[in-house]
Amino acid sequence: MAASTALASRALAFGPDKSLALLRDGYQFWQNLRDQRGSDVVRARLLHERATCIRGGDAARFFYEEPRLERSSALPAPIVGTLFGHGAVHTLDADQHVHRKSLFTDLLTAEAVGAIAAEVGRRWDERAPTWRGETELFEEASAILLGAVGAWLGLPIHAEDAAGRAADMLAMVDGFGSPGARHWRGHRARGRTEHWMEGVLQDIRDGGSHEAPIGTVALFRDGGGELLPVHTAAVEAINLVRPTVAISWLLSGVALAFDSWPHLREDLASGTISALDLAQEVRRCYPVAPFLAARATEDLEWSGEPIPAGSLVVLDLWGTDHDPRIWPDPFRFDPTRFQQTPVTPFNLVPQGGGDRNRGHRCPGEDVTLAVLITLIPRVAGLSYAVVGERPGLRRMPPRPTCRIDVRSA
Ligand code: HEM
Repeated sequence: MAASTALASRALAFGPDKSLALLRDGYQFWQNLRDQRGSDVVRARLLHERATCIRGGDAARFFYEEPRLERSSALPAPIVGTLFGHGAVHTLDADQHVHRKSLFTDLLTAEAVGAIAAEVGRRWDERAPTWRGETELFEEASAILLGAVGAWLGLPIHAEDAAGRAADMLAMVDGFGSPGARHWRGHRARGRTEHWMEGVLQDIRDGGSHEAPIGTVALFRDGGGELLPVHTAAVEAINLVRPTVAISWLLSGVALAFDSWPHLREDLASGTISALDLAQEVRRCYPVAPFLAARATEDLEWSGEPIPAGSLVVLDLWGTDHDPRIWPDPFRFDPTRFQQTPVTPFNLVPQGGGDRNRGHRCPGEDVTLAVLITLIPRVAGLSYAVVGERPGLRRMPPRPTCRIDVRSA
């Protein structure tokens, strides 16, 4: 009797399903619950799963360091199917995860990061002088980023396919936050992209060896020494390309920031802020990933709150990046804040937190920062005004468009 009462009260504590409210409120969903309930730890039922949401630096440490939290069953199938791909590193745990992760961390060396960023800069310098009048910066940036990461990887991207491939990379990301047409667009984009990438990798396998990084992906072996199924290798190759192209979202953030706060150009020129300060503030304020989930394998407790075995723990990334206990005046765009509050593994988590080799932290953070640091002075040097709708916090991810009206230099 006592056990069934405890279960009933737990069922009540998670309340009715709030998936629709999540779609409506977007990045602010968990903050709204925190405000309504006056509590820092909040619970909700999402897609019929019980979820306990935590945020802040200590919460991020718990999320990344608690060994009884696992990822393999925590991500909803539609998100795996469009955004990451089945069998992706994101969905692995323990030794299998650490081994697969080494594919990414071994490839993304400082030298590789430098090469990708330099290629992005070179392609931008070629392309930007052709921009006049209203320009879709988001699309232009996605083509530049695809070309640069493709050149580094050694991917054969035919000129006539490049725009479609870049659009497919964006569509896979754009589909994650919506159950409707956007999701199906992402699903179809994934199908096309996996088919293409499987062909590329199979050709490399048939040829036996390949010097470029794409060859390392094609010939990567699992912990038991077996080649990955070609589909899984394709999924991981796409996990290098798609998120690099997704830096377009952050670049749009850079363009919006210069447009909203023109003094940033002078601050940058005078050295009051660095390009790194600005890149970090853009990552904090223009979110892409809203939150992450992991499943409790045993009954756990966080900050005195019980977390039942089998339920989800959600780390609110946006909420952590706007936690006033870490970032004072969190809704103010202020790149100088990093001069007072240095970034730690757990206080700024737009790309996850903790250790990137052993945990799930994004291995592409250095690429992201290097690309932004390369492009920030170039965007600052453009004369433009942002036109059209500005992204808000409801749509996840924000509408993938940033049109700029480029004035002749
Ligand atoms: C717009 C820029 C990016 C954003 C917002 C972003 C965000 C994220 C987030 C939130 C995670 C999940 C961390 C976790 O599960 O704990 C992640 C993981 C990952 N990211 Fe990124 N990322 C970006 C760029 C990149 C780039 C440039 C690459 C590769 C070149 C990359 C490759 C990956 C991979 C492979 C994972 C899975 C890591 C794992 O599960 O161990 N990302 N990213």
